[in-house]
Amino acid sequence: MIEAKNVSLQYADGTLALHSISLSVKAGELVYITGPSGSGKTSFLKLIMVMEFPTSGSLKILGQTYARGQTGRIRQLRRSLGPVFQDFKLVKGRSALENIMLGMRFLGLSYSEIKKKSQEALARVGLEHKANTPVENMSWGENQRISIARAIARKPAIILADEPTGNLDKENAIKILDLLSSCKDSNTAVIITTHATHLIPQNQSRIIRLNSGVMEEA
Ligand SMILES: Nc1ncnc2c1ncn2[C@@H]1O[C@H](COP(=O)(O)OP(=O)(O)OP(=O)(O)O)[C@@H](O)[C@H]1O
Ligand SMILES: [Mg+2]
Repeated sequence: MIEAKNVSLQYADGTLALHSISLSVKAGELVYITGPSGSGKTSFLKLIMVMEFPTSGSLKILGQTYARGQTGRIRQLRRSLGPVFQDFKLVKGRSALENIMLGMRFLGLSYSEIKKKSQEALARVGLEHKANTPVENMSWGENQRISIARAIARKPAIILADEPTGNLDKENAIKILDLLSSCKDSNTAVIITTHATHLIPQNQSRIIRLNSGVMEEA
């Protein structure tokens, strides 16, 4: 799903956010990316979302490489990605269900299919009773679950969750990590960034640590 070879990312102001990253992620894998603030976790997810481009090295996402300006191809790829952003990016004034449906509008599905799949995703995160509530009238943790439902509703090939345990208490943080890890299957890889290394189930998890943009597998 992801093949990175010696990938570096330097921002326009000269900041070297990622330095010679090599990593392979296959379908069915759950990968945690940890590391201190500023170590490059979000930058790595941005490369996979093709919101940034490697300054050097080779990066294949679902078997393809992407270059700046290939807007159509990039848009096409993003239909197969399920991002859960640090700030959720939900649409205010719209209900929980509408927000999830909005995330599926370019997949070529009928309205009734979109609605059904969105309702299923909302049930999966335990919020079916809040379907018609505007997102601004819900708690931070509920908004986060809606953003996860939006990401999983279209059954993406790669789920990318950036710091999903952010503001949550331990019990809810563990629930969220369980929910995200339950989304991996033979067609889906899940990548989660988190500071909260103590919440990562240690036995079956693949953990990658970033330190000032340098990656090491734990
Ligand atoms: N658009 C940008 N332009 C210049 N530098 C950037 C940009 N975005 C991030 N950086 C820098 O790149 C480095 C990595 O940032 P990144 O956001 O990837 O870290 P992070 O590990 O996600 O941190 P956090 O845990 O605080 O979210 C930092 O030094 C940051 O200041
Ligand atoms: Mg970050």
